[in-house]
Amino acid sequence: MSPESPQFDRLWNNATVATMTTGGVPYGLLEHGAIGIRDGRISWVGPAAELPPSCCDAATTLDCGQQLVTPGLIDCHTHLVYAGNRAREFEMRLNGATYEELSRAGGGINSTVSSTRGASVEALVDLARPRVERLMQDGVTTVEIKSGYGLTTADELKMLHAARLLDNLPVTVKTSFLGAHALPPEYANDKDGYIDLVCHEMLPAVIDSGLADAVDGFCEGIAFDVAQMERVFDVAQAAGLPIKLHAEQLSDLNGAAMAARRGALSVDHLEYLSHAGVNRLVENSTVAVLLPGAFFCLRETQLPPIEALRQAGVPIALASDQNPGSSPVGSLTLMLGMGCTLFQLTPEESLAGVTRHAAQALGLTADIGTIETGKRADLVLWHVNHPAELSYRLGDLACQKVLYGGCEK
Ligand code: NIG
Ligand code: FE
Repeated sequence: MSPESPQFDRLWNNATVATMTTGGVPYGLLEHGAIGIRDGRISWVGPAAELPPSCCDAATTLDCGQQLVTPGLIDCHTHLVYAGNRAREFEMRLNGATYEELSRAGGGINSTVSSTRGASVEALVDLARPRVERLMQDGVTTVEIKSGYGLTTADELKMLHAARLLDNLPVTVKTSFLGAHALPPEYANDKDGYIDLVCHEMLPAVIDSGLADAVDGFCEGIAFDVAQMERVFDVAQAAGLPIKLHAEQLSDLNGAAMAARRGALSVDHLEYLSHAGVNRLVENSTVAVLLPGAFFCLRETQLPPIEALRQAGVPIALASDQNPGSSPVGSLTLMLGMGCTLFQLTPEESLAGVTRHAAQALGLTADIGTIETGKRADLVLWHVNHPAELSYRLGDLACQKVLYGGCEK
């Protein structure tokens, strides 16, 4: 405790703290720990026995009873602003149609585009709010939300606006512009024409609006190729916006390597990522965001190159990819479990995937993702004794208490 901060606004005492910091014990685990909070930030973390006397009022001290405290969870890849649903396509896939076939027949993403275009900003917020509230039950304190179901300038801005309006919930919302998500019907057979629209009209309007924190795209046979995505990234990066990419989900187009070479924050999906691609990620500190929900729901059998990513030291994040098509998944703790069972991540890797590495995938490492002095006091108290339980319980675990920037809301 430094002399210039003699008093905490709030103290969580007697906790098992998974700080998720690196270089020490697994999970950065601190038994019998305490966390002091001041002005919304973590101002002290250490063994409870070393707490200075009279550092906090009894009224603002919580005895955590040795239970687990983690950083607030971060869902770093979602598409949770949308209208309509695709239950009928789910049935069709189970009857043998593939995700790609449905997409090429005008369904898939474009089916959600047509529902979303027909919805007002208010309607989109009303539909999305319970999805965010469900994630909050899992201890999510930061969520990334993509556009990409509008595919006109007005409809993409509408989606981003709806996402930003969700920020009146206690969670932190980060937005990504995903205009290059699919080819809308009015541009059938003219992908380059649509990319012209994205680059010359949509993205400039999004940049002017200030509604996007990053720019994403879908690099795939049913979406856009590497050269088309590079045109979008040229405009984004000239405006100083960070980039991300859906890459190597259904085939290997070398999109991840291109995005990494350009300094992308993350590349996401990656089932078909090559070993050469893995090396590009390491060289550029690009996070590999794995999405077990989409892998599971599309009944994918090709695993991402987990062992190569691990051996190379690529930071691996996990996210829900919540969307109405490939991953109608509402729980991030379910992804912790599925990251272990489907991708053979360790529970520690899974938890790092929704904390420290998810923060990195959003460019927020200075602010969130670990329990360290100076970081925002986004904290979750769980009714468990060991962090492996978070993955082990396979989504069947609600958190006990959450602080968002030091406040219970
Ligand atoms: O991350 N891969 C592309 N985009 C989404 C799917 C969106 C959809 O099917 O509606 C994804 O899986
Ligand atoms: Fe996605």
